[in-house]
Amino acid sequence: MRRAVCPGSFDPITYGHLDIIERASRHFDEVIVAVLENRTKSSLFTVAERISMITEVTTKYSNVRIDSWSGLLVDYCKSNDVQSIVKGLRAVSDFDYELQMAQVNLQGSGVETMFMATSPAHSFLSSSLVKELAHYGGDVSSMVPSSINEALKRRVAGK
Ligand code: PNS
Repeated sequence: MRRAVCPGSFDPITYGHLDIIERASRHFDEVIVAVLENRTKSSLFTVAERISMITEVTTKYSNVRIDSWSGLLVDYCKSNDVQSIVKGLRAVSDFDYELQMAQVNLQGSGVETMFMATSPAHSFLSSSLVKELAHYGGDVSSMVPSSINEALKRRVAGK
């Protein structure tokens, strides 16, 4: 079975992530969306909340499942028979860090990273931007599914 992981912090999941997940699901037998810790970021939603939100917006993809992991991504891949990591590249600014991670992951474990060009419509989109806009009452309805928009509104209102 060709199995890939789409890893990320997904805090929260955006249409940019969903675009990559959907396209990856057409190229692999199974795609695991794995919520991982990014030690350089603090999060707005708990891992359990993120899993629940991702599950809700990916139900239509029959070969996509959701998981979480705290540890190295390559260890997750080894434990779950995952051969490929799929990442979206939005712009050249993503490239340096993503290349570094891909090379470290390849050297350590032989797990390949496949980069997918983000659809131009989503090239500016990031969870951080969405959180910043939502924090100040900006409209993010074109950037995230409606259930995520509602969860963001509740969270920035302190609920
Ligand atoms: O959505 P993000 O925050 O850009 O995702 C980054 C993430 C979580 C995929 C990355 O930080 C990661 O792989 N973390 C797990 C720990 C790990 O394997 N680190 C070494 C990478 S070289």
